[in-house]
Amino acid sequence: MPTPNDSTVSNYLFDNANEDAERQVELLAAILDVHTELVLYDLDIDTRWQCLDLGSGGGSVPTMLGRPLFAVEHVVAIDQDPRYIEQREGLEIRQADVMTADLGENVFDLIHARLLFMHLPEREQLLRRAIAALKPGGLIVVSDWDCTHLDEMLLTGDDELREAFLAFQHGLITLGERRGMDPAWARRIPAVFAAQGLTDLGALVYNKLWYGGQPGMQLHACNSRQLQEPLLDAGVTKRQLDVLRAGMEDPQVIGYTYPMYTAVGRRPR
Ligand SMILES: C[S@@+](CC[C@H](N)C(=O)[O-])C[C@H]1O[C@@H](n2cnc3c(N)ncnc32)[C@H](O)[C@@H]1O
Repeated sequence: MPTPNDSTVSNYLFDNANEDAERQVELLAAILDVHTELVLYDLDIDTRWQCLDLGSGGGSVPTMLGRPLFAVEHVVAIDQDPRYIEQREGLEIRQADVMTADLGENVFDLIHARLLFMHLPEREQLLRRAIAALKPGGLIVVSDWDCTHLDEMLLTGDDELREAFLAFQHGLITLGERRGMDPAWARRIPAVFAAQGLTDLGALVYNKLWYGGQPGMQLHACNSRQLQEPLLDAGVTKRQLDVLRAGMEDPQVIGYTYPMYTAVGRRPR
């Protein structure tokens, strides 16, 4: 298992070294893998494809690609802190900053990235390098959350919970934006794909209703624990964080996560 190396750690809002980070990547897998599997299934992936996952987090997607449904023989997973990715045969784990890592040229049949590009200020530059790393005809899949409709997420709960939920969400987005995150990028991905010359564009939007106590609600509480200090500094109160965390465990509370926008494009042959 690679060990984190400070020289590769970038400006990313969260920190995989945080005590709640492993739970975070588990929750992301529980919320999103069903969607990612559907998108990947539609791509007719061949077992001999060279596949690359960027910003792999807990590694659920590179692991999925190795399972019998896809049975991809060789997958590369890159993360600046890959401590939660379980090693297995056929999986090559690289610890690197995606902005400086050598991705190669004409190497991959499929490149996938989920919840990475939205965090990177120079996301279009990374996209250009990722496209160059694809073989002609290769596919890129980019998934990110659209975080622009925060007031439409929580559907029940009393006034105090709704106010705490929104205060937390706005605080989180403010912290992200300070580090170059773009909460509205997800909906633009196909347009950026087109501008960078990709063809055969496709896109799918995924969301689901969750109850308090389920992963889609627990993620907010988990994120609030990881970023407690900066959130407090940004003006969210401890009372609001306590109310949020209790609400996210209350089975009477229902709501959506952020909608996930996934775009697919092909490097021209
Ligand atoms: C929100 S997590 C998403 C993890 C996984 N893709 C998923 O959807 O479950 C973002 C991941 O990207 C990684 N990351 C962020 N910036 C990075 C960079 N510049 N280079 C490499 N990895 C990065 C983080 O370490 C983290 O594991």
